[in-house]
Amino acid sequence: MAAFTKSTCTTVSRMKSVVLFLVVLHVIVFLSTVEAVDKGNFKTCDQSSFCKRNRALEEGSSPFVAMLETFQVSGGVMKVDVMNTKTSVLLQLELHGLLGNMVRMKINEINPAQPRYEVPDVLIAEPTKQSWTVTKQDTNNMEATLTKDISIALSSQPFRVDVIMKGNVVTSVNSRGLMNFEHVRAKNWAQKLEDKDENGEQQDGEPVDEVKEDDDEDLPGMWEETFKSHHDSKPNGPTSIGMDFSFPGYQYVYGIPEHADTMALKTTVNTDPYRLYNLDVFEYELDNPMALYGSVPYMIAHNTAQTIGLFWLNAAETWIDISSNTADKSMFGRVLEFVKGDSEVPQVDTHWFSESGIIDVFFLLGPSSDEVFSQYASLTGNPSLPPLFGIAYHQCRWNYNDEQDVKNVDMNFDEHDIPYDVIWLDIEHTDGKRYMTWDKNKFPNSIEMLDHIAAKGRKMVTIVDPHTKRDSGYKLYQQGKDNDYFVKNKDSNEYEGWCWPGSSSYLDFTRSEVREWWGNMLSPSEYEGTTMDLFTWNDMNEPSVFNGPEVTMHKDAIHGGGWEHRDVHNIFGLYVHKATADGQIKRSDGKERPFVLSRAFFAGSQRYGAIWTGDNMAEWSHLKASIPMLLSISLAGIPFIGADVGGFFRNPDSELLTRWYQAGAYQPFFRAHAHLDSKRREPWLLPANNMAAIRKVIRERYALLPYWYTLFYRAHKTGIPVMRPMWVEFPSDEKTFDMEDQYMIGDALLVKPVTTAGTTHQTTYLPGEDVWYDLATYNKLKGPSSHTATAALDQIPVYQRGGTIIPRKERVRRSSSLTLDDPYTLTVALDNQGLARGNLFIDDGHSFDYQAGNMLYRNFNFLNNVLQSRTIDYNVKFTTRSWLERVVIVGLKTKPNAVELSGTLIDYQKLDFTYTPQSQSLVIRKPGVNMGEDWKITLS
Ligand code: NOJ
Repeated sequence: MAAFTKSTCTTVSRMKSVVLFLVVLHVIVFLSTVEAVDKGNFKTCDQSSFCKRNRALEEGSSPFVAMLETFQVSGGVMKVDVMNTKTSVLLQLELHGLLGNMVRMKINEINPAQPRYEVPDVLIAEPTKQSWTVTKQDTNNMEATLTKDISIALSSQPFRVDVIMKGNVVTSVNSRGLMNFEHVRAKNWAQKLEDKDENGEQQDGEPVDEVKEDDDEDLPGMWEETFKSHHDSKPNGPTSIGMDFSFPGYQYVYGIPEHADTMALKTTVNTDPYRLYNLDVFEYELDNPMALYGSVPYMIAHNTAQTIGLFWLNAAETWIDISSNTADKSMFGRVLEFVKGDSEVPQVDTHWFSESGIIDVFFLLGPSSDEVFSQYASLTGNPSLPPLFGIAYHQCRWNYNDEQDVKNVDMNFDEHDIPYDVIWLDIEHTDGKRYMTWDKNKFPNSIEMLDHIAAKGRKMVTIVDPHTKRDSGYKLYQQGKDNDYFVKNKDSNEYEGWCWPGSSSYLDFTRSEVREWWGNMLSPSEYEGTTMDLFTWNDMNEPSVFNGPEVTMHKDAIHGGGWEHRDVHNIFGLYVHKATADGQIKRSDGKERPFVLSRAFFAGSQRYGAIWTGDNMAEWSHLKASIPMLLSISLAGIPFIGADVGGFFRNPDSELLTRWYQAGAYQPFFRAHAHLDSKRREPWLLPANNMAAIRKVIRERYALLPYWYTLFYRAHKTGIPVMRPMWVEFPSDEKTFDMEDQYMIGDALLVKPVTTAGTTHQTTYLPGEDVWYDLATYNKLKGPSSHTATAALDQIPVYQRGGTIIPRKERVRRSSSLTLDDPYTLTVALDNQGLARGNLFIDDGHSFDYQAGNMLYRNFNFLNNVLQSRTIDYNVKFTTRSWLERVVIVGLKTKPNAVELSGTLIDYQKLDFTYTPQSQSLVIRKPGVNMGEDWKITLS
C-alpha cells in the first residue's frame, strides 16, 4: 500500500512537473520576442484531410442530380430530393423563400445514420417565409419566382441552382460541380457488406441498411487523423460538405473574417484557401488566409449595380477558395458560358467546405448594401447598443499590478487632463488564474478601488477566461464538477487541457444550463469583491488549449447532446460571450446594458458586445493591417470592433504609438493594450509633444461621442456598420472598391489614418460629386479629387462630407458619463445645394430604458437657410438637460443679416453670430435651446 501510494505520488508529482514545464514553456515562448507565427503549429489545407479531399474535387462532373419528380412546393418552401449518383445516397434540398429579398437553401441527408449538427442559437428566429410561384417545370428544369425581381432556376442534371435578380444570375450554385456531401456511414462499409449473412444481418448484428454503399474509397484521414502528436479519433468518419458559388458580374468579394489580410478578398489559386477555425495564433502573420480567433462564414459581393450576401451557417472548421476570371487571367471565361455566354463579364468563383454539419446557406439579395446589412441582421440579430462608456477610451495592459498601480494610472489621467472611461485588469489580478477571484495581496480592497474609480464616472473590466483551474478548493471548478458542466474527452471523462492556470477543465458553454449558471456567478454576491461598475473581458475562448491540436480543443471532445467539438468549434466562443453578457444583464435585473469584450467570435456575436483583433504587434504594418481587418469584421455584421492600440507585442516608438492612438480614436472600440513584457507606455510617459498629440485625439474622440453613439444606435436598429468601407457610401465609384487605407465613420466622416513612419503629408481620395471639409480647418474641397494635406504628428486627416450635420460635446471631462448634461455643438457642412442633414440619439447612456421610449432621436435638417430640429420618434418620453451651445455652418456662401431662433416652446430670439468669409463659415453662439425640443434657426 505504502509502495502504491509512493508511486502514485511520484506519478502525480511527475505529472505536475510536466504540466508546469509546459505552461512555463508556453509562457516563455509567449514572452520572448519570437520572430513570427510558428506556422508548423497550424494545419495547412494539405494537412487537413477534409480540406484536401474537397479541394481535390474536379470541376464539371457533379455526381448530384435533383430528382424533379419528387418536387413539392408548399408556400415558401420548395423541396426536392437530390441523389448522389455515385453512392445512391439521397439528400433533400429545401429552398425557402424569405421575406425581405432572401432565399435559404438547405441540404441534408434524408436518412442520416445519425443526426447531423444544425447550428442553433445563431438565427434569432425562424425567418419569415414568403410564397414561391412556380413558373416553369419540365423534366430537367424548374423555375420559381419569389418577388417581381427575384427568381430561382433549378436544373436537375447536373444539379445546379441559379439565383436570379432582375433577369440576371447573381449567384450560381454548383455550376462548377464541386458540391460534396459525405454521408454518415459505418466504418469499412465494404467489409461490412461482404460480411453480411444471408438474412441481411451483418456478422456483428448491425442492420445492413445502415451500411450505405459507397464507392468513395477510404482515403487516409477519413477515419482518423494525426497532426503533430495529436490524434483525432474521428468516430463518425468523413462527414464534410461543400459547395461552389459563383457570382457572375462581380469582381469584388469581402467578409469571411477573421484574417490578417486585405479587405477585398484575394484569389486563393496559389495559396491555401481562407480558413475559418477559431484559433489562438501566436504572433500572427499579415497578408495571410490563415485562421485567427474568430469566424464569420459570411461573404458580401459588390458591383456598381448591386450588393449581395452569402451566409454559410456552419460552425465546423470551414475553408473557402476564391478564384476570379479577372484576378486569375489564365482561367478567364472558365465558367461564364453557361451563365451569360459573355466572356467580358467579371466573375468571382468561390468554393466553401466544412468538416461536418449540413449545407445551410442564405442568399441576401440587397439590392443595396444597407439592405444587405439589414437582411443579415434580420437573420443573426441586430448589434447590441453599447453603454456609452464602452465606446469611450479604455486603458489596459497586461498587467496593472495592484490597487496602488491602478490608482496611480487613474490619477495620472486626471493630472494630464486626458479623459478615459475604463481601466482593465488582465490575468495577474486573480488568485492563481482562478477567474472571478482576486489576488488578495495585490487587491485586498477591490471594492474600495472600484468605488474610487466609479466616483469619477469610470468603470473597471476584469478578464474572465473560460478555462477553469482544476482545483477542488476553487468554487467555480468544484461547482462545475459537481454539476457535470465540463466538456468531456472522447472517453467520456472530463476533458483536460493546459492553459494559464496549468491543468484546466473547460465549461461546456454550448449547454444553456451551464451558461445560466456562469451568468449567475458574475453577480456581485457570487463574484466577491466586485460591484456593478465591474465589466468583463472574455479571452482565450476559441477555446485556447496550450497543449491541444493547433492550440485548441481536440475535435473528438464531447459537448452537450453528444455533439463533437468538431461540430461546434466555431460557435464555442460566441456562447462564452453570450453567457457573460446575459449574466451581466441578469445581475441588474435586466436594467443595465452589458459590456463584454470577446476574442473569439462567430455569426451573431454582434448581439453580445465588442470584439478585438487579438495579439497584434507594435509594428507599422500591423497598424496598417488593423484597418482592413476591422473593415472585414464590420462588413460581417459586427460593428463594435477594435485593435490593441500601440500593438500588443513589443514596444512601439513614440511616433508609432501616437499614430496608433490617432487611428484608434477613429475606430469603434478604442483600447490601448500591451503585453506583460512590454515597457509601460501610458500617454504621459511619452515626450511632451507625443503626449499632447495623444491627449488631443482622445479629447476629439470624446467630443465626437454623440456622433459615435448615434451611429451605434443606428447600427443597433438596422445592422448598418459604424466603420464602413468607402464603397458602402460610394457604391458606384469603382476606385473605392478595394480601398482599405481610408474609410468612413457613418456617412459623414472620412478618415485616413497615418500608417507609415515619418509622414508629414497625407493624400486622401475624396469621392463623389460633392464637397468635403477638412475637419481641422473647415477648408472646402471638391470631390472627386485626391487631396494632400499636412499630417504633422498631432494631425490625422479627417473630412466631413458636404450635406451632413455632426453633433459634438466640446467640454473636456474626466469620463463620458460626466458629459451627460453637457451642451452640444452642431457642425453643419453644406453640400453644393446648400443642404445638410444629420441625427442625434440621446438616452441615459447605460440602461435598457431607451427601449421603452426613454430616449430622444432627433433629426436635423438644413434647407433654404433654415436649420430645423425635429423628433424622428414620436413615442419618446426622455428629457435631457443638454442644450444647444453652438452651431457652426460651413460652406455658407454669404453672410446672413440676421439669425433667429424659433420653436413651439420657444420665444422668438435673435442670436449672436460671426461670419468668416475666407472659410465661408458661420458660428452661431448660444442658441440655448433644449436638445429635446423642436426648434428652427433661420438665416435671413
Ligand atoms: C491573450 C490576449 O489576447 C491578450 O490580450 C492578453 O493580454 C493575454 N492573453 C493575457 O491574458
